[in-house]
Amino acid sequence: METGLDRTVVLQVPITFRDLQLDDLDPQRLGWSGGAVHLEAIREALEWAWTGEVDLLVGELPTGQLVACGAVDHRRHPSELWMLSVDARWQSLGVGTALIGALEHRVIDRGGERAGLGVEWDNPRARALYSRLGYVESGLVLDGWPQDDGTRYVTWSTAMTKSLT
Ligand SMILES: CC(C)(COP(=O)(O)OP(=O)(O)OC[C@H]1O[C@@H](n2cnc3c(N)ncnc32)[C@H](O)[C@@H]1OP(=O)(O)O)[C@@H](O)C(=O)NCCC(=O)NCCS
Repeated sequence: METGLDRTVVLQVPITFRDLQLDDLDPQRLGWSGGAVHLEAIREALEWAWTGEVDLLVGELPTGQLVACGAVDHRRHPSELWMLSVDARWQSLGVGTALIGALEHRVIDRGGERAGLGVEWDNPRARALYSRLGYVESGLVLDGWPQDDGTRYVTWSTAMTKSLT
């Protein structure tokens, strides 16, 4: 009797990148992206999205499961990609690349010619991904955000920009 046979199965999964809705702000749906403070930051970004100054997107499977989330802040010059995250169970499959492409399209749709982002100095994997996608280092900035334990995390980040023309 044969046991333990390995089989390679190649799957293609359609993911829809759409505007985040209020109903999505549920730990059951977006809890993989961070704790309560992170979800609160997404809620604040949603208010800016309602004013049209931010685009806030989620990547959704046909089942309705959310696997990616990210924003682009058009108040910054150039427009800045922000809060990029992919569910750990769906990373390294091209989802982040597709999310960034969808956000860049929101910049192009507004006539923008450049996009920027910041990546923490100790996140070489994300930096390598952004370099591969055409982002070029443009400086070093001090960045920070609140954490679930009430403290503020402060870090050096590398600023990167990309021409979209
Ligand atoms: C950074 C992040 C958003 C990237 O998303 P992702 O879905 O993992 O990105 P991609 O899959 O498009 O590309 C990343 C990797 O997949 C590989 N890849 C891309 N397309 C692929 C494909 N079709 N098949 C297999 N691998 C692929 C890339 O070569 C890269 O390799 P690595 O795993 O050695 O780094 C995600 O990893 C994440 O949420 N990380 C934690 C939070 C974070 O660091 N956010 C960024 C803050 S600046």
